[in-house]
Amino acid sequence: MGYSSFVAIALLMSVVVVCNGGKTSTYVRNLIEKPVDMPLDSDAFAIPPGYNAPQQVHITQGDLVGQAMIISWVTVDEPGSNQVIYWSDSSLQNFTAEGEVFTYTYYNYTSGFIHHTTITNLEFDTTYYYEVGIGNTTRQFWFITPPEVGLDVPYTFGIIGDLGQTFDSNTTLTHYQNSNGTALLYVGDLSYADDYPYHDNVRWDTWGRFTERSAAYQPWIWTAGNHEIDFDLQIGETQPFKPFSTRYHTPYEASQSTEPFYYSIKRGPAHVIVLATYSAFGYSTLQYKWLTAELPKVNRSETSWLIVLMHAPWYNSSNNHYMEGEPMRVIYESLFLKYKVDVVFAGHVHAYERSERVSNNKYNITNGICTPVEDITAPIYITNGDGGNLEGLATMKQPQPSYSAYRKASFGHGIFAIKNRTHAHYSWNRNQDGYAVEADKLWLFNRYWNPLNDSTIHIP
Ligand SMILES: [Fe+2]
Repeated sequence: MGYSSFVAIALLMSVVVVCNGGKTSTYVRNLIEKPVDMPLDSDAFAIPPGYNAPQQVHITQGDLVGQAMIISWVTVDEPGSNQVIYWSDSSLQNFTAEGEVFTYTYYNYTSGFIHHTTITNLEFDTTYYYEVGIGNTTRQFWFITPPEVGLDVPYTFGIIGDLGQTFDSNTTLTHYQNSNGTALLYVGDLSYADDYPYHDNVRWDTWGRFTERSAAYQPWIWTAGNHEIDFDLQIGETQPFKPFSTRYHTPYEASQSTEPFYYSIKRGPAHVIVLATYSAFGYSTLQYKWLTAELPKVNRSETSWLIVLMHAPWYNSSNNHYMEGEPMRVIYESLFLKYKVDVVFAGHVHAYERSERVSNNKYNITNGICTPVEDITAPIYITNGDGGNLEGLATMKQPQPSYSAYRKASFGHGIFAIKNRTHAHYSWNRNQDGYAVEADKLWLFNRYWNPLNDSTIHIP
């Protein structure tokens, strides 16, 4: 055999080896340029003018079904009013709700006045306007409530994770704002303030101002990531999740949860369960007990789609955080199969990855059966840890494993568009040279109403 033939065969073999899994996007991102945080005086962090003007305005669902909203904002000159004045576009009547104000200290930082006010008894599928900063500088925003919970109600969620506050984060958020997502499933790791000396909490404030342009107008559904823990013994900060849980509230009590980091909501056609990677999750824990009580309550004749959010992914073929999700998967995966979870969104890994429908549920530590297998009863696992934070992109293990359908270490966001009880369309929209490019897309079939094989690549 000549040298050229040998090289050709070797190349062919290497291609065969590398391609034994799914698809790796051919787009080559410039990996040399590490993302950089936007400077403190960036327009994206602009402080609204006026005495005691509300800033960092954000909203999240405030009850189980979408008829309440938690309105949150920060004032810096004085506590000011906790009131929210709100009205619908179909009514001339104004309503007023009263909330609470919180502050915290973190090492040498003292927060502004963090307000949380829940407005209730909202009509479904209605535009509401709301005002905060009553008595000082008043600012007005608006949002649209979801349709009433129902089987065939179309509804479009966005998915962003690990956003941070770099120039790339700014691009991701702009692309998401240009989409038709009407509520955002946020899969954890928000500001990355803890990457700064003493977890500089000023970067929590800048993140709040940066994200206001979306989060004040549609609910962001919060999942806690490791960058929310903010536990640092060396500077005497021993209360985990202090900045996050003071700034970002969740409606956990509405689903009988006892901790703000795991809870569920219903929104239109979806039952969304948020799990807590960084809270205790073993068999004897409150989280496990809550989930095993929650799953039987999911009524697929009411909410046709079952979505789970968590931070650390279970199926991840990146070098970064490889197998970190394994302890939780071992305990919870059988429940996901039993209750026909449709899709699991995670973050943590700074890349995009979508699994085939696979499970690894047969393994019992002695039987040696520890490889994921094709399983059309299983959820599809999607990692959207690609928001664009300052830590940069993940690198991938080679070869791509068979359970991995599509992966790419590049920034972007996801769109999950539920059409009816049987079909939803998912797309991953990659940031590419200033544009959002729909790089990965597929139709998902509902595991309860339409449990056919929707894999894009068949696993032999
Ligand atoms: Fe993370």
